[in-house]
Amino acid sequence: MRKRTVTIIDNQSGKSAEFPVRRGSYGAPVIEIGDLYKELGMFTLDPGYGVTGSCRSAITYLDGEHGVLLHRGYPIEQLAEKSTFLEVAYLLIHGELPNQAEMLTWDHAIKMHGMTHEHLNRFYSGYRYDAHPMSVLTGVVGAVASFYHDEMDIYDPQERLITARRIIGKMPNLVSKIYRYQSGLPFVYPDNSRDYVENFMSMMFSWPTEPFEINPVAVRALDLLLILHADHEQNASTSTVRLAGSAESNPFACVAAGIVTLWGKSHGGANEAVIHMLEEIGVPKNIPAFVERAKDKNDPFRLMGFGHRVYKNYDPRATIIRAACHNLLDEMNLNQPLFEIAMELEQLALEDDYFIERKLYPNVDFYSGLIYQALNIPKQMFTPMFALARSAGWIAQWMEMMGDEDFRIGRPRQLYVGAEKRDYVPLAERG
Ligand code: SDX
Repeated sequence: MRKRTVTIIDNQSGKSAEFPVRRGSYGAPVIEIGDLYKELGMFTLDPGYGVTGSCRSAITYLDGEHGVLLHRGYPIEQLAEKSTFLEVAYLLIHGELPNQAEMLTWDHAIKMHGMTHEHLNRFYSGYRYDAHPMSVLTGVVGAVASFYHDEMDIYDPQERLITARRIIGKMPNLVSKIYRYQSGLPFVYPDNSRDYVENFMSMMFSWPTEPFEINPVAVRALDLLLILHADHEQNASTSTVRLAGSAESNPFACVAAGIVTLWGKSHGGANEAVIHMLEEIGVPKNIPAFVERAKDKNDPFRLMGFGHRVYKNYDPRATIIRAACHNLLDEMNLNQPLFEIAMELEQLALEDDYFIERKLYPNVDFYSGLIYQALNIPKQMFTPMFALARSAGWIAQWMEMMGDEDFRIGRPRQLYVGAEKRDYVPLAERG
């Protein structure tokens, strides 16, 4: 069968060139445009990379039109219901679900990497007590690079796997210490007799004076949130990790770069911004005014937790989180007035032409903060929770990139619209 191509014709020069079209397992086919400059002397321009693919990947597939999310082919709904975050992390990295022996080995390996160098504890006290936790997390994860730099060979697959185990093992420790330090509480060491999420909750909330009781409902809810935030294709923070990694930078430093990108309220910072928005709305009768503000082009206010670059239908994670939020509040017999406001806001927005026309639906961040709040995680810790989960996806994507036969440094081009060439005028002559 004739290979599929597209032809680009320059109607000024009359030159034309054919470019191969590649189809993946699913999703839109792509035009391999790499020879465009050689053939036609042109670059492409796509601000925000709306239709530009940066890589081939086998880790996650999103279908934005139909609200589909697969991790290594497994639907997020099935992983959310039947798996655990640690198992999903294994899946993202290894490409297959582990058997029982592999899971035991993986669990043990992650636990063996749960400690951090004692000197790392000094970094926390260098921050203001009220520093935003994402600024602290950026610093301490970047600092981890200093403990694993000289001897690391990023071209050795086994070393890359050890790095992945270190990141996944240490993130709960690094994140919980932010909360402990800012709360004036002593740091809590990992307890390897506990499972991953239980261990994290113990490091966050246990008291040296009392036995720590684990609430299995809370553990399951948090494990679910970690699963739902683990990876999401080539989002802004993952693309940052890949671009930083393409320069052969230290992978811990690349993850720190991802944390910086995730912090933005257009990205992972939205979960915290949603709660601030719901608290500002306060009561249901104020909802219409906020919806009108979100539609007003003269008002920079946007409905936090709504809209998505890829999903033009429901974010499947939002659907799962809404149901989990409802169940958790019932099971813990919690009255969360913000949940009622969120549901009414969602209902009103989804009936409004502005949101319907622009296919703006709730995304993963719209309800997640309500579950974090029910688990007594403070607002400013919401995005560090997102980073804890997404570090599994970031390091899986970094490993895939480092092992890619097409591996090369990323270097986008541009359309230059600045001043034409001109000569320097000495200061005295500039009037
Ligand atoms: C995450 O990429 C990923 O996969 C990210 C993520 C992941 O798991 O990694 O899913 C996590 O980041 C989710 C998104 C969290 N952010 C928010 O909830 C912040 C609020 N959302 C918006 O800022 C916005 O929707 C974005 C940033 C999410 C998407 O931005 P786009 O794709 O650039 O959207 P756009 O600007 O092209 O919007 C199209 C139209 C515009 O109006 P018009 O110019 O056509 O008239 O929709 C409007 C926008 O103004 N719009 C909104 C809106 N989002 C888009 N209007 C009001 N409120 C909003 N939330």
